[in-house]
Amino acid sequence: MGSSSCAETYILVFTLLFSSVSWAASSSVHQNFLQCLTLNSNSSTPITKVVYTPHNSSYETVLDFSIQNLRFTSSCTPRPQVIVTPLLVSHIQAAVICSKKYGLQIRARSGGHDYEGLSYVSEVPFIIVDLLELRSINVDVEDGSAWVEAGATLGEVYYSIANKTATHGFPAGICPTVGVGGHLSGGGYGTLLRKYGLAADNIIDAYIVDSNGTLLNRESMGEDLFWAIRGGGGASFGIIVSWKIKLVPVPSTVTVFTVTRTLEQDAEKILLKWQQVADKLHEDLFIRVYVQAVNGSQEGERTISSTYESLFLGNTSGLLSLMNESFPELGLAADDCNETSWIESVLYFAGFSGQPLDVLLNRSQTSKNYFKNKSDFLKEPIPETGLHGIWKLFYELKNATGMIIISPYGGRMNEIPETETPFPHRKGSLYSIQYVVNWLEEGEEVSKRHIDWTRKLYKYMAPYVSKSPRAAYLNYRDLDLGRNKNGNTSYAQASIWGLKYYKINFNRLVQVKTKVDPSNFFRNEQSIPLSSWWKK
Ligand SMILES: Cc1cc2nc3c(=O)[nH]c(=O)nc-3n(C[C@H](O)[C@H](O)[C@H](O)COP(=O)(O)OP(=O)(O)OC[C@H]3O[C@@H](n4cnc5c(N)ncnc54)[C@H](O)[C@@H]3O)c2cc1C
Ligand SMILES: *[C@@H]1O[C@H](CO)[C@@H](O)[C@H](O)[C@H]1NC(C)=O
Ligand SMILES: *[C@@H]1O[C@H](CO)[C@@H](O)[C@H](O)[C@H]1NC(C)=O
Ligand SMILES: *[C@@H]1O[C@H](CO)[C@@H](O)[C@H](O)[C@H]1NC(C)=O
Ligand SMILES: *[C@@H]1O[C@H](CO)[C@@H](O)[C@H](O)[C@H]1NC(C)=O
Ligand SMILES: *[C@@H]1O[C@H](CO)[C@@H](O)[C@H](O)[C@H]1NC(C)=O
Ligand SMILES: *[C@@H]1O[C@H](CO)[C@@H](O)[C@H](O)[C@H]1NC(C)=O
Ligand SMILES: *[C@@H]1O[C@H](CO)[C@@H](O)[C@H](O)[C@H]1NC(C)=O
Ligand SMILES: *[C@@H]1O[C@H](CO)[C@@H](O)[C@H](O)[C@H]1NC(C)=O
Ligand SMILES: *[C@@H]1O[C@H](CO)[C@@H](O)[C@H](O)[C@H]1NC(C)=O
Ligand SMILES: *[C@@H]1O[C@H](CO)[C@@H](O)[C@H](O)[C@H]1NC(C)=O
Ligand SMILES: *[C@@H]1O[C@H](CO)[C@@H](O)[C@H](O)[C@H]1NC(C)=O
Ligand SMILES: *[C@@H]1O[C@H](CO)[C@@H](O)[C@H](O)[C@H]1NC(C)=O
Repeated sequence: MGSSSCAETYILVFTLLFSSVSWAASSSVHQNFLQCLTLNSNSSTPITKVVYTPHNSSYETVLDFSIQNLRFTSSCTPRPQVIVTPLLVSHIQAAVICSKKYGLQIRARSGGHDYEGLSYVSEVPFIIVDLLELRSINVDVEDGSAWVEAGATLGEVYYSIANKTATHGFPAGICPTVGVGGHLSGGGYGTLLRKYGLAADNIIDAYIVDSNGTLLNRESMGEDLFWAIRGGGGASFGIIVSWKIKLVPVPSTVTVFTVTRTLEQDAEKILLKWQQVADKLHEDLFIRVYVQAVNGSQEGERTISSTYESLFLGNTSGLLSLMNESFPELGLAADDCNETSWIESVLYFAGFSGQPLDVLLNRSQTSKNYFKNKSDFLKEPIPETGLHGIWKLFYELKNATGMIIISPYGGRMNEIPETETPFPHRKGSLYSIQYVVNWLEEGEEVSKRHIDWTRKLYKYMAPYVSKSPRAAYLNYRDLDLGRNKNGNTSYAQASIWGLKYYKINFNRLVQVKTKVDPSNFFRNEQSIPLSSWWKK
């Protein structure tokens, strides 16, 4: 494709070249920065062993390792001057102190799943602090808690819990390679959401390195900052080192099922009924649905399939009687159900049923693709006519997989006040809906075509989803909602996406940000602005 494939990002690249050339040109600054790192960290484990510049042969491997979205692996993507993979807290502290001193930005990366690549891409000269080596997990069954370092993945957390106890779990996301550093600081939900809320609702302490390079825990950071990092995104406030999480009880037997219905099998009627009941079901029962176009039974024919995936915290007979009572339309049969343990249900949802548990420890187990996801919240069911328009759009998509995933809230989510954490989508947000498109072909044009399709679907959905604001989930980051211009965005501008992600909690986040990072050192395309920009 050549250089024209970078056309869309030319402004960005120009900015980058300009600034990185000037930075690299003064190689003494570069040397001084590296020296600064050594001076400010613990000599017992020299930081030089974990510092990578483009001159180190392993730089690229380390950079690419946890990039989940192939859209950000192209030659147009700006790269970090330095990558640090800390082994000690003092390595993180040195990275903060020295980056501040030498005018570099920091992108903290834990699992690298950010939808828009904000943990490893920046328009201005930057370094990556990649926490993948800081991933120890300490489960205390007696206390019903665990200390988890930020670089651990959800799979490692689930594995470590199950390694110690069969009757505890943790309510977080479905994909095992997601990192706890990003996930827990942005909310985090999965199959236990209706029973126990978000991952962020189950954090009881944390360590963070602030913009002065100081290590703080819950007591020393204070309740405002501790509130902010449980749903407000860690990246605006510092670098999270570890979380103390509260384990939750799970029964020794749970039941899972996956049932697919096409249009010919009454998919539409079933989906309409599901939308009436899914948020009101017993809190032990979670049923999400994903919908996509598939080949029909006749050659060349297309149809819509809807797949219901469920976790029930009990046995098959309990599940069948609940379904019979509330959702008989699905026609769930005993044969569809599988009784298993909670940890096996984790494998089941991740698509690894029947494999040894240690697949959860494999950080590179998911196949990577190019993707663009967007999100909404539903306050009422999508009517039949609305569904028909979605089907039409699905049939238009070529050479890519398009999907909507709808997850029900209700249960515990209704009981937690909107201001308890920065994540505000509680009572009244009946369902979260995610629009997903992914593809395997490289190239800017292909990418643009598929991204345009998601935007079209998003636009089409406007009448059916939450309004004023049209809400969005921070962990499903979407730069279409707007972006900071290198940190100088006004409160008014930032509130366009800030109110979507945080609703009324946005103002408190601005206050906390102003107090703990007054120089706006920790910033990115959608970081929380300072209040001094209130009137700009
Ligand atoms: C395949 C896939 C499946 C997913 N499934 C779910 C799901 O089931 N449920 C759900 O809720 N979400 C899900 N997500 C979204 C996921 O929760 C977010 O992308 C989350 O932010 C990822 O965390 P990370 O550490 O892997 O990402 P990263 O890309 O490393 O970080 C994400 C953001 O957090 C910041 N950050 C990372 N680490 C730190 C740190 N230590 N301190 C401060 N800031 C930090 C980064 O700078 C960046 O801004 C999924 C994403 C993908 C790609
Ligand atoms: C340096 O690290 C070692 C272990 O790696 C630790 O025992 C020591 O306390 C650390 N010193 C400082 C000053 O952090
Ligand atoms: C990268 O190269 C520098 C200079 O040769 C060296 O000091 C450093 O240890 C290397 N980094 C790693 C992780 O090997
Ligand atoms: C716990 O982990 C250890 C070490 O990985 C392993 O040998 C052991 O079999 C595990 N125990 C359980 C109950 O999973
Ligand atoms: C769907 O049908 C098309 C041709 O009509 C075929 O090329 C494609 O492989 C089919 N897809 C699947 C998943 O079977
Ligand atoms: C299923 O669970 C219920 C409630 O816990 C229990 O009363 C019942 O005996 C169980 N049934 C079977 C077949 O295990
Ligand atoms: C389903 O419910 C109906 C009444 O609502 C009842 O007659 C029937 O026995 C139930 N079936 C099962 C399998 O529980
Ligand atoms: C239940 O799980 C077992 C083991 O993973 C599998 O062999 C079986 O096919 C599953 N049954 C259903 C109905 O999914
Ligand atoms: C992790 O998963 C990938 C993809 O399935 C596989 O190629 C690799 O061998 C696995 N690594 C380990 C250590 O099992
Ligand atoms: C889809 O892919 C096929 C094969 O690569 C190609 O011939 C076709 O033009 C593509 N369709 C579109 C709409 O790009
Ligand atoms: C977002 O899109 C990717 C790629 O299609 C997909 O693997 C992932 O599951 C989506 N996110 C969630 C939370 O479903
Ligand atoms: C913000 O704008 C002011 C004046 O326009 C400028 O002096 C300052 O350097 C800018 N800050 C950033 C971070 O771009
Ligand atoms: C950071 O250090 C400066 C200078 O020592 C101090 O004035 C400021 O209060 C510190 N900030 C925080 C958030 O502790």
